[in-house]
Amino acid sequence: MTIQTKARARCHWLPDLDAAAAPLYQALVERLAADIAAGTLAPGERLPPQRLLADALKVTVGTITRAYREAERRGLVEAKVGSGTRVRSLASDAPSFHHLSQATDGSVDLSLSVPIPHPMRAQQLAAVMERLAHRPGAIDAALAYHPEQGSQTSRERLADWLTEQGLPMAADELILTSGGQHADYLALQALVQPGEAVASAAMTYPGMIAAARQLGLKHLAVPMDDQGILPQALERLCLQQKIRLLYLMPEHNNPTGARMGQARREAIVEIARRHDLLLVEDGVQFVTAERRGVPLYRLAPERSLYIFSVSKLLAGGLRMGAIHAPANLMSRLAAALRAQYWATPELMASAAVEWLTSPEAKTLIDWQWQEVAERQQLLAERLKGHEISAHPCSFYAWLTLPEPWRAVDFVARAAERGVTVIGADPFCVGSQPAPQAVRICVTPPAERAQLDEGLTRLAALLDEEPRRDSPLV
Ligand SMILES: Cc1ncc(COP(=O)(O)O)c(C=O)c1O
Repeated sequence: MTIQTKARARCHWLPDLDAAAAPLYQALVERLAADIAAGTLAPGERLPPQRLLADALKVTVGTITRAYREAERRGLVEAKVGSGTRVRSLASDAPSFHHLSQATDGSVDLSLSVPIPHPMRAQQLAAVMERLAHRPGAIDAALAYHPEQGSQTSRERLADWLTEQGLPMAADELILTSGGQHADYLALQALVQPGEAVASAAMTYPGMIAAARQLGLKHLAVPMDDQGILPQALERLCLQQKIRLLYLMPEHNNPTGARMGQARREAIVEIARRHDLLLVEDGVQFVTAERRGVPLYRLAPERSLYIFSVSKLLAGGLRMGAIHAPANLMSRLAAALRAQYWATPELMASAAVEWLTSPEAKTLIDWQWQEVAERQQLLAERLKGHEISAHPCSFYAWLTLPEPWRAVDFVARAAERGVTVIGADPFCVGSQPAPQAVRICVTPPAERAQLDEGLTRLAALLDEEPRRDSPLV
């Protein structure tokens, strides 16, 4: 048997390649894309090792490496240290909302960072809609076309509210968006060209990873510690290649909870100025004014965007957010938004702003801060002795698993006991190795007792020896 015949027998994926196609690596990527689209290659399926596929196709290993790299850049596959290259699985993208519901079977979902369910939300929104409906001209205004950045009235009211929260801004510095994810996407789409590089902490919000991939941007990971990205590492990366934009969550990184102190913020701003980086500060995981450090947009107003959303305060289904940006970037952001869908729906914007600025919303938000702090306290008690990183305003905690637990086993064992948590993988940028850690959200259960039950089951699990299902060979 020739080397090629032997390799062909061992390759579970053997694309038909037109030898005349040039360049060959490109033809291979196209074949890969077609087979994924046709379902011949399933999400999560491992691609043949590079050397094996090269032998089977009688091409150089370099051609396969280039093809796999290009496929990764196009978001078709993902390469992880130690586990080869796999077809990108939707499940490893941003955590999905599909499965989230208030369980009746004793299971406890602690996977997503959502506002705490409470009947107050529906009652308040109903009252707000009623008020709007009876306010002369309000519905007519909501039904009219508005400028790309959103109606003047909604922007003014939102700017005033944010200013009261210790985030001073003016209406003409704001552009309304359909939530925080839209704001993140819009910032990347409007300000970074396909092929250019953006950077973030090595572990970051999966929606940002998905947006950068979707837009064909190079996403670089900056090593981090418990204060977020390391300035020296950022400096090194900037010296190696041109980075256009740096995405950060200075108050508490999703998922690790890292919070930047003042010196760290200043060091990063200084590097951003020297290397001409745009800064995107994602404030969707909102914190109270007294817990907040100086926002980056106050330290470097000429190059910083601040992103806000009502999703964590009022309701994720409202899809209402905003970008605060320097004047020279406004027209590019507005043009991108116009090209997407003209403007954020004013009916939603006016309802969300009416609710946010109402006395009822203050009662709801204050209740939620108190409840979040108490739930974090409960988590600290139930998981006492374990390595937890959390913030009193945070909807989640980051648990570094004790030896010899691996995140994949812990997530699976927790699921067997009816508790859903998310491992580190979806938060890792590119092929960054995932730490053996999980994110535990304290907010999804309506009742604190359900959270307690879920945490108690996790604590019991942590005391056990991990069981591995993986074969030894
Ligand atoms: C850091 C961060 N940014 C953006 C979002 C998305 O916000 P929205 O639901 O408003 O689109 C989330 C949601 O969890 C988030 O954690």
